[in-house]
Amino acid sequence: MNHMPQPSDFGPDNAGPRHNAPDRHAGVYRYDELDKEFVFQRVEQFRAQVERRLKGELTEDEFKPLRLMNGVYLQLHAYMLRVAIPYGMLDSTKMRRLAEIGRKWDRGYGHFTTRQNLQFNWPALVDVPEMLTALAEVDMHAIQTSGNCIRNVTTDHFCGAAADEIVDPRVYAEILRQWSTLHPEFSFLPRKFKIAISGTPQDRAAVRTHDIGLTATRSEAGEVGFTVYAGGGQGRSPFLAVKLRDFVAEPELLAYLEAILRVYNQYGRRDNIYKARIKILVHELGAEEFTRLVEEEYARMPRAEYALAPEVVEAIQTHFALPPLTALPAESEAFDEAKRSDRAFARWTKSNLHPHRAPGYAIATISLKPVGGIPGDVTSDQMDALAELADRYSFGELRVTHEQNLVLAHVRKDDLYPLWQALEAIGLGTANVGLVSDIIACPGLDYCALANARSIPVSQAISERFADLDQQHDIGELKIKISGCINACGHHHVGHIGILGVDKKGEEFYQILLGGDAGPNAALAEIAGPGFDYDGIVDAVETVVKTYLSVRSGPQERFIDTLARLGHAPFKEALYGAA
Ligand code: HEM
Ligand code: SF4
Repeated sequence: MNHMPQPSDFGPDNAGPRHNAPDRHAGVYRYDELDKEFVFQRVEQFRAQVERRLKGELTEDEFKPLRLMNGVYLQLHAYMLRVAIPYGMLDSTKMRRLAEIGRKWDRGYGHFTTRQNLQFNWPALVDVPEMLTALAEVDMHAIQTSGNCIRNVTTDHFCGAAADEIVDPRVYAEILRQWSTLHPEFSFLPRKFKIAISGTPQDRAAVRTHDIGLTATRSEAGEVGFTVYAGGGQGRSPFLAVKLRDFVAEPELLAYLEAILRVYNQYGRRDNIYKARIKILVHELGAEEFTRLVEEEYARMPRAEYALAPEVVEAIQTHFALPPLTALPAESEAFDEAKRSDRAFARWTKSNLHPHRAPGYAIATISLKPVGGIPGDVTSDQMDALAELADRYSFGELRVTHEQNLVLAHVRKDDLYPLWQALEAIGLGTANVGLVSDIIACPGLDYCALANARSIPVSQAISERFADLDQQHDIGELKIKISGCINACGHHHVGHIGILGVDKKGEEFYQILLGGDAGPNAALAEIAGPGFDYDGIVDAVETVVKTYLSVRSGPQERFIDTLARLGHAPFKEALYGAA
């Protein structure tokens, strides 16, 4: 069999780092030769399978498990390719390649998802092997983006840069990637399995909505470890993960996770797809009994074999060293002056920046939610421009957030103004991160075969209704999340305002949910009352927001805090009248 890398149509000149992107992307794990060979081999196997499908030698049913193993779904109108972006880390080389793939084999764009991945919505099946070859050349693939296995481990998009971080979660996400990829015991779990890691108790990774959630912490002695949660998930039966242990020390992490997976593999239901997730098992057994089973399994295991050696952790840590930052003064005169002279820039600095651990630097979030835009969509031209900006301002590195935005993690404060101007020029300078138009939306009826209702046009209409950025800043933090069906891909259960599309006698209807939260104070939203039709849902959201503005104790009280203080009654009354 031919294991050698195949040059794609892009030609060898375009493969690998090029342009002015030096090989300095400290934050991206480099594959070794074995990894590379495996990925190319997999593409060749799939190429043969696609050929057999196209010749009619395989039926769609026979082909389905083969394509799913390579991230190829069948949507409403076309196949879809889901590309893995391990823990959301990209570099400019990968971004440029995604742009080229979108331009050549899709409709000139890609869609960033809540699982820190990227989807191409319109590939022709015959082109997919070439797309996969083009990805493999830059160490990317679509393996384990589908199927009942451990999926892309997600994490905090500010990892390695945030001032409040305890450990860099990428190190552990990468360890889990290596442990879980192709692990035979975890290749046929009862259902798909999602793990999220937060390197700080701040939890920017929504850990409690995952099958396993980890939050980094330190013991009193200073030892690194994790608080371990399991059994979270959204969809038809939403649950927040329960805490199994306050502290699992770093060397024991793999053994403890393996114990959880073993219990799930053994007791998880395989007879009923709706009851197959670990959340149902934890719920049915109860947190105490589930924890007991895990602890029992853990005690039985040859734990020494799984112990994470400090050398291994250190070796992986070196891949995630900080890029060569310059020693800078904490404040930047150029930055302060730009804020004073340009109000629009000042507004962007309020919503889209986060403190960096190094003086003189900041973390910039690039909103993929321009007013009236499709959440998460980026054109190929924008991807190229973003790669250029990453090279110029952030060591060639980019991250994807689970809220469908992008991040440049290491920007000099001096460079923030030119960066924002360049973002404005490509339509990506919107100052709305965390605000009412920073909406998460699933693909809904525009793409998805399972949808009951459209999600994308609803998010566009809401974002247009609140187009005034001054007003958005006045409203403050408010997270709207929209799903087109009960599967909850748009995270509506953890939206401050969640919107769920339902089908009512063949018509699109939308339920409003209130009070969900994905952060450290995780909570599931509650349905407010009867649904609204397509035209009514935007008004209903506006009613909720206006009610909040009229009852909040002051501009510093966020929507979610007002809801906690006053309960849901004033909002329900505004929506449905007095009970
Ligand atoms: C053709 C498109 C898609 C289909 C057919 C699809 C299908 C599904 C289904 C059936 C579930 C429920 C799984 C369960 O409860 O076990 C689900 C959950 C989910 N999907 Fe999708 N999905 C699609 C697109 C997306 C996209 C674009 C995103 C991200 C933007 C996404 C993110 C998620 C997430 C985060 C969940 C929640 C999983 C959980 O409970 O942990 N999906 N999806
Ligand atoms: S929530 Fe439903 S409609 Fe939306 S992408 Fe998921 S399965 Fe499709």
